[in-house]
Amino acid sequence: MAIPVIIDTDPGIDDAIAIALACASPEIDLLGITTVGGNTGIENTTGNALKLLHLFGRDDVPVGAGAARALAFEADLGDPTIHGQGGLGGVELAVPERGSDPRGALGLLVDLVESHPEPITLIAIGPLTNVALFAATRPDLYAKLDRLVIMGGGVHITGNHTPTGEFNIWFDPEAAARVFSAGVDVTMVGLDVTHKAMFAGTDWAPLRGADAGAVGTAIAGMVDFYGSFYMSQNGSDATAQHDSLAVAAVVKPELVTTQHCWVGVETAGTLTRGMTVADLKDVWKQTPNTHVALDVDVPAFIELLVGRIADLDARLR
Ligand code: RIB
Ligand code: CA
Repeated sequence: MAIPVIIDTDPGIDDAIAIALACASPEIDLLGITTVGGNTGIENTTGNALKLLHLFGRDDVPVGAGAARALAFEADLGDPTIHGQGGLGGVELAVPERGSDPRGALGLLVDLVESHPEPITLIAIGPLTNVALFAATRPDLYAKLDRLVIMGGGVHITGNHTPTGEFNIWFDPEAAARVFSAGVDVTMVGLDVTHKAMFAGTDWAPLRGADAGAVGTAIAGMVDFYGSFYMSQNGSDATAQHDSLAVAAVVKPELVTTQHCWVGVETAGTLTRGMTVADLKDVWKQTPNTHVALDVDVPAFIELLVGRIADLDARLR
């Protein structure tokens, strides 16, 4: 049976690739997408989600627009040198006729969770503002979720946006703090594993063939932009496919090795605001609330992600 999934996202190049994986994987029944501001503004993230689903042949999946800003304090949107001005690395995609769902993110989450016969897995790959609002507004329905799988945080690698803040958590720490303490099981796919699973430019070769279709060409174009940012920072075009690993952990759970422990989020620290603190040694004797991903089968992840997207490209040619 396919796993019923909603994806909350701020596309964003790695989000786009993660959505492609979800659309390419029969293990996932993608019920809906909700969008949030983060990598770029909410207008871009929502429009990008609609364009990506159109590209992937999934105009049937509703898109609900959510929070434009963080709950408590202003946070600057993502650096356009990472994802491009529009959020997809300058790759132009066809604009579908349909627009976003009039229910918006919260209304869509409520309706889908309330009406679906099976518990839903919520995969959150952007700032957690929408997820926190859902947990705060309808705790009764939020409790019906099977689990929450997030791309966010870090334990031994603590930050990418600040020394102690991974971007998704840093952008809205108050939202993240509520989500980790809301009582629904969290699987945290953080920097410890996403920075282990780096994709070399050559790993994407199956999407660059002369017979590549619209999907392969678009994803390869986004990877090229994303890789140029990494090259400018690290001297290598190897990229971290953060968000796809969260989706891959649902498609193939055995890809990641996790430890069940208590995780909290720092919201008051001057230097550490947005830091995820994992009590791996159970010093504080708190009830474990998170499965923290600490290792990843890198070759298997690369093979799954590129192979599935190549299959999707071939199917849609
Ligand atoms: O830190 C990586 C996360 O921040 C990813 O979700 C990426 O898309 C950005 O939102
Ligand atoms: Ca993201």
